[in-house]
This record gives sequence, C-alpha cells and structure tokens, in this order.
Amino acid sequence: MINAVERKIEQYIAELDDRYVSLLYRNLPHGKRLRTKLILKIAGSDLKVVKTAATVEMIHAASLLHDDVIDDANTRRGKVSVNASEGNKTAIMIGDILYSKAFFELTSISPEVAKVVSNAVVQLSLGELADVELSKKFHTNRDAYLKMLYQKTASLMEASAEAAAILVGKPREPYRTYGRSLGIAFQMIDDILDITADSQTLGKPALHDFVEGKVTLPYMYLYEVLAEEDRAYLVSLHRKRLSADEALWIKSAMKKFNIIEKSYAEAKELILEAIELMESLGEKDLSNIAKAMIEREF
Ligand code: FPP
Ligand code: MG
Repeated sequence: MINAVERKIEQYIAELDDRYVSLLYRNLPHGKRLRTKLILKIAGSDLKVVKTAATVEMIHAASLLHDDVIDDANTRRGKVSVNASEGNKTAIMIGDILYSKAFFELTSISPEVAKVVSNAVVQLSLGELADVELSKKFHTNRDAYLKMLYQKTASLMEASAEAAAILVGKPREPYRTYGRSLGIAFQMIDDILDITADSQTLGKPALHDFVEGKVTLPYMYLYEVLAEEDRAYLVSLHRKRLSADEALWIKSAMKKFNIIEKSYAEAKELILEAIELMESLGEKDLSNIAKAMIEREF
C-alpha cells in the first residue's frame, strides 16, 4: 500500500514536467513515511486516501527542505542536503514546488481534508518560527517549547490522522488525539536521540540541537537540577561548537541526574495514552505503530 503512495507522488512530480525537479526528488531520502502509515492504517487504500498520503508526504518533504535552509544543515538522513549540494535558493524553490503541487492536488480530494491539512501547514510554519525564536538564547520555558513542538511536528501528524478519519467517516477526535500524542512523543524522542545516539545512526552530528541553539526538554531538566556554577557552565555551552570534553560533560551530567530516563518517561506516557485510545477502538495496527515508537532508535 505504501508503494501506491510512492507511485502517486512520482506521478505528481512527473506532471510537473521538469527534469531538474524530478532528478532532485529522486535523490531525496524518503524517511520512515510515518504519516503515510497512519493514514493507510486508519483509512485503507482508496484513491482519495492514497492521494491524501501523497500530498502530506510532499508537504513534509517541502518543510524539511526549508528547515535545512533555516538550520543551515549539511545533511538530511545521512545524505548531503539539497541546500548543501544545490544551494539555498534551489532548496527553497524545490520546497515551494512540492508544497504548491501538494496543495493543488489537495483541493480535488475533499474540502474538509484540504482545510485540515492546510491548517496544519499554518501551524507547522508558526512552529518553525517559534523554534527559531526560542533558539536565540538559553531558556527554560517548557510551555513555549511544548507548544512549538506541537506546532512544528505534531500538527501534521494530527492532521494526517484526522484527514484519514474524515475520508472513511470515523470519529475525528480520537484519531486527532492519537496523531497529536504520537507527534509530540516522536519529537521528544528525537530530542533524546540527539543526545544519546551516535552521529552515524542519526545521520547528523550528535548534540547538534544544543549547538544549533535548541534547548530541548533534557537540557531544561538538567538546568533545573544543576548547582548554580554548573548552570552557568551549561548556559555558556549553548550555541557553541562543543569540544569533546564539553560534549562529555553534558552527557555525564545527563547521566548523573537520570535526565534521559525522566525525558523518556514523559514521551512514553504520551505513547501509552495513544496505545490505550486505539485499543479502546479496536485499532490494533495503530496501537502497534505507537508501541514501535517506544523502541525507536533513530
Ligand atoms: C524539523 O525540525 C522541521 C519541521 C518538522 C517543520 C519545518 C517547517 C517549516 C520549515 C515550515 C514551512 C513549510 C512549508 C511547507 C510551507 P528540526 O529542525 O527540529 O528537525 P531535524 O533534526 O529533522 O532538522
Ligand atoms: Mg532542522
């Protein structure tokens, strides 16, 4: 079924009739297609469902192309990013093309689906702006961070699940909640993996978030438990290219105070809620997707 979505995206790209766009799209690493999996598991594989998944994946791909420009990233999923190989201008325009084509196709699926997905893109963009703002200086504003995380990552998963429910006449609310919880937990685990996983597994340098300015939950929790002097040291490392010793200091402090366990428990709680919700609806496959996220290693 995922193949049908890949073919649909390829068809949409071919319709653009531009060899350069086709070439760049072919070279883009695909990722886990998590949004597609949610949509197909909720709604089956009718043409409208496949089209919805294709548009959501194109929007997601567009947002990452733009995000890599904004973050000045050199790699995406272990490959050289488009901004790094082709330049920022091209990366932005390819993103614009994928995004606009997806919107054009969305309008012929259903007005309700188009509304839900386009609203998520507004949230996505607001979330990215908030992320950039929050990264400018060290902060411990958990509420602002969680709101940003919802907007930036969970909104499109929430919309994917809701759109799928709309297409097959299932109740929207539980699927929305499921998508949102999964999305927030997904990003929380992403933030943890940035600290715990090695750079080869991640496809980007480890501790990259903090170097980029992103004060994710583990850093906030660490700050809370540190003594004054160590707090000042942690803040001094924010937005700094870290030496091996500095990186080790952060990792050891995280270990000493069980920060990773605490952060992980928070993500797990959301995932367990999502599992419970789907089991109450008899949606075994969807609860399995959530279960797999608990074990996620990259
Ligand atoms: C990755 O975050 C970024 C996102 C999930 C969303 C980016 C959204 C935009 C750029 C808004 C504009 C989009 C469109 C289509 C108009 P990250 O940098 O924390 O994660 P990473 O490690 O994967 O880069
Ligand atoms: Mg990024």
